[in-house]
Amino acid sequence: MNKVRLAIVGIGNIGKRHIAVIDADPNTELSAICDIDKEKCQKQSDLYNGIPMYTNFIKMLDEIDADVISICTPHFLHKSMTLEAVDRGYNVLVEKPMALKVDDAQEMISAAHKNGVKLFVVKQNRFNVPVKLVKEAIDEGKLGKIYMVQCNVLWNRNTEYYSLSDWRGNKEKEGGALFTQVSHFIDLMIWIFGDVIEAKSNIDTLKHDINVEDSGVATLKFDSGVIGSVLWTTCVYNKNHEGSITIIGDKGTIKIGGQYLNKIDFWDVESYPLPNNINFVDLPNNYGKYQGTSSNHDKVIKELVKDMNNQSGKTVQGEEGIKSIEAIQMIYDNANN
Ligand SMILES: NC(=O)c1ccc[n+]([C@@H]2O[C@H](COP(=O)([O-])OP(=O)(O)OC[C@H]3O[C@@H](n4cnc5c(N)ncnc54)[C@H](O)[C@@H]3O)[C@@H](O)[C@H]2O)c1
Repeated sequence: MNKVRLAIVGIGNIGKRHIAVIDADPNTELSAICDIDKEKCQKQSDLYNGIPMYTNFIKMLDEIDADVISICTPHFLHKSMTLEAVDRGYNVLVEKPMALKVDDAQEMISAAHKNGVKLFVVKQNRFNVPVKLVKEAIDEGKLGKIYMVQCNVLWNRNTEYYSLSDWRGNKEKEGGALFTQVSHFIDLMIWIFGDVIEAKSNIDTLKHDINVEDSGVATLKFDSGVIGSVLWTTCVYNKNHEGSITIIGDKGTIKIGGQYLNKIDFWDVESYPLPNNINFVDLPNNYGKYQGTSSNHDKVIKELVKDMNNQSGKTVQGEEGIKSIEAIQMIYDNANN
């Protein structure tokens, strides 16, 4: 297995996690890090053996030797940074959401194709223990025909989460809570139930002083015929309450729950009891004042190493990543009508 050399741009909450994971994996190597905030960069460089650091992304791209650029900047920069990297022949691993518009995501996919490089999107929740268990059970037909799905993202983001950020809560830069908090859940539903072909929604800004929605409810129809709903908010009192997906099938009902899809809250499946030897080990990404979804970035990187070595890894590629952007755009386009 050839070692994969990665450089990271955006050393904020999640960029730091990428650094730690890449540093810990024997099959990956950190080539460089980049952030416009020199202090952040210096701190991480000091922590990781003086890793080369840059405050200018283009300069980093032009000077370093790396196989993959990991893009961990705010959403609105994902497209332009991906294009700059793939045009220089780099493969890209971009954080979710891959872009804020379907056209932008398509442009990124086309540019990667044109340059003969790979475009991966981070979707670490696919590796959550309960999610894998349920995906396998459904693929093996254990639940029979699936009728409905209900998804709840009932989370807390405090005032500072928005007020201390120069991009969160901003329409052009963040897009909205669907992109930030809900896109993982939408990706999982598409992965399990197929493409979203219809969406209607009501969205609102109930609590926070921001110009995107902090709450909403959408009804969805998937191309498999499954109908479903997603209810999301960042207004829950005090702390995250629930991140769940409940599935209603002809031969069974399952609720993947916990705060971030880390538990099985309910399992009643004909002739298929919940295996009793499962170790539920998923931990959340912890950002100090709030918790995000699962921290399975180590699994994403392991699969990326396989993909880069042509060993059919399970990293999500741009062609799949765009599907959740299509669904989110459809939900926003059909909001409050
Ligand atoms: N997969 C996940 O579960 C997960 C979790 C958290 C964040 N994310 C994604 O990661 C991205 C970043 O989120 P975050 O919470 O780490 O944000 P953040 O604000 O904590 O960090 C972003 C960093 O990018 C830097 N930056 C901004 N513009 C730059 C530029 N032009 N060049 C270089 N650096 C620049 C900022 O200085 C900051 O350090 C978002 O798209 C988010 O959706 C994904």
